[in-house]
Amino acid sequence: MTCCDQKCALITGAVLGALIAVLGGILIPVGNMFIENTVNKETVLESGTLAFDTWTSVDTAIYRQFWLFDVQNPDEVVSQGAKPALVQKGPYTYRTRFLPKTNITFNDNFTVSFVLPAGAIFEPGMSVGTEEDIFTSLNLAVAGVYGLLDHKLANLFIQSSNANLFQNRTVKELLWGYRDPMLNSMIGVFYPYNDTTDGPYTVFTGKDDIKKVATIERWQGET
Ligand SMILES: *[C@@H]1O[C@H](CO)[C@@H](O)[C@H](O)[C@H]1NC(C)=O
Ligand SMILES: *[C@@H]1O[C@H](CO)[C@@H](O)[C@H](O)[C@H]1NC(C)=O
Ligand SMILES: *[C@@H]1O[C@H](CO)[C@@H](O)[C@H](O)[C@H]1NC(C)=O
Ligand SMILES: *[C@@H]1O[C@H](CO)[C@@H](O)[C@H](O)[C@H]1NC(C)=O
Repeated sequence: MTCCDQKCALITGAVLGALIAVLGGILIPVGNMFIENTVNKETVLESGTLAFDTWTSVDTAIYRQFWLFDVQNPDEVVSQGAKPALVQKGPYTYRTRFLPKTNITFNDNFTVSFVLPAGAIFEPGMSVGTEEDIFTSLNLAVAGVYGLLDHKLANLFIQSSNANLFQNRTVKELLWGYRDPMLNSMIGVFYPYNDTTDGPYTVFTGKDDIKKVATIERWQGET
């Protein structure tokens, strides 16, 4: 009796094991195929996929942070040629990419083109001060004139407009632009920014080759 019980148990175990092995042998590739298909399908940039929804959404906050240098001894630099003493301050944080991509155009070669509207909103909570913090910095116009004109001419021009090699400007002015009194035009490290667009970009949709998804094929018409 006990012998048969053992035999039965062994046989049952073997059959069950074989069944599970066969089932696994079928289900694993099927599962993998299913996962692979889903991943391939959902990560392609085309209308209706998860990837496309994420790609077009602006829900994820993207920040850009700046550290600026404050010149401590501008007068000594100008009068005695002293080495500038700098104090770095930051971060000054801006939220960017809150405007959705526009002019999204699907091309017939597995690429999609779009432009990125530019925008920046100051984030006081993630910054050390306000946008109105004043920095003594290099006067971009004065420094630039030396590169454009002969030094003698540049000196005359600068003196006649009463400009200085250093200037006091707010963070906002330095980054996003201010009207320079000497040149009578807008200048700034990132000027113009608001109401401009970046691109056009052309990126791969990944439909022909998932490895290429979202890779930039062209920017402003250049590869
Ligand atoms: C976006 O598309 C419109 C209409 O086709 C066009 O007038 C405009 O110039 C495009 N904008 C950019 C930045 O390419
Ligand atoms: C795909 O087509 C677009 C629009 O015609 C073009 O700008 C781009 O260079 C093409 N890319 C490739 C890889 O053929
Ligand atoms: C740019 O636009 C945003 C709103 O879109 C505004 O908060 C910000 O002050 C603007 N920046 C400048 C420098 O005008
Ligand atoms: C900048 O501000 C400092 C301190 O507030 C002042 O001493 C200096 O004269 C100002 N420089 C210019 C070029 O206005």
